[in-house]
Amino acid sequence: MRIVILPTELEVSRFAADIISDVIKKKSRSVLGFATGSSPLATYEILIEKYRKGELSFKHVSTFNLDEYVGLKHNHSQSYRYFMNEHLFQHIDIDIQNINFPECINNDFKECSANYESLITKQGGIDLQLLGLGNNGHIGFNEPTSSLSSKTRIKTLTKKTIESNSRFFDPSEFQPSLAITMGIGTILQSKKILLIVTGDNKKKAVVDMIEGPISAFCPASALQLHNNTVVVVDEAAAANLQLSEYYVHSESMHLNSTSDRIAPKINAN
Ligand code: GLP
Repeated sequence: MRIVILPTELEVSRFAADIISDVIKKKSRSVLGFATGSSPLATYEILIEKYRKGELSFKHVSTFNLDEYVGLKHNHSQSYRYFMNEHLFQHIDIDIQNINFPECINNDFKECSANYESLITKQGGIDLQLLGLGNNGHIGFNEPTSSLSSKTRIKTLTKKTIESNSRFFDPSEFQPSLAITMGIGTILQSKKILLIVTGDNKKKAVVDMIEGPISAFCPASALQLHNNTVVVVDEAAAANLQLSEYYVHSESMHLNSTSDRIAPKINAN
């Protein structure tokens, strides 16, 4: 796991947006996994900016979103499809045919989930999966005790997740307690994973994910098993990491901060 600690949320977002741009620039037909929540918002804004400046095109990019609520219409203002349209898709040149969500119109969740997995495979797999981190260590909507090899399926949300996401809903509004989410096994099949996490309230989940044992109790700890994961974290969220000095030192060896290349410092003597 590559751990990049940056002072502020803005720097985290810039770094993440640069990684995403690099992937698209290297492969215009990239398959990207996108996430919702507040964490990627600034990253999406920076990507839009890059598109507007003519630095980046999403014309041939395909996307698979991590998760979607069950029980909300496509155009519901709290659906994740709506969120992605509002915050990214309607502002860039992506072809709407290439946008995918784990939705299930016929309520046959097994079939819809299997179809989503097949679609990802048919596209050649996900080149880069963007993730946020739930307060309880969830990724996507893989709540604690989710199987570490799980595939796309319907999940019941924990009370904690429902409470934490209630800030997005009007008090009088129906808030789903079910979602379809890529599984942890689905996420781990991505060629590269980029997780962004900011804020003091995530510091326990950050420690559990990076330095804790691999455990279904912290679903994000499964990322320790992935050989190409970058975690970009702000100082507030990194505050309780035991080895933060090592991560900073290790990062100082990177020549180009968004690439995977290492520039070893050679002793001249
Ligand atoms: C939701 C999403 C996750 C997201 C998490 C954290 O539960 N399903 O994909 O990572 O929230 O959200 P936030 O970034 O708002 O803290």
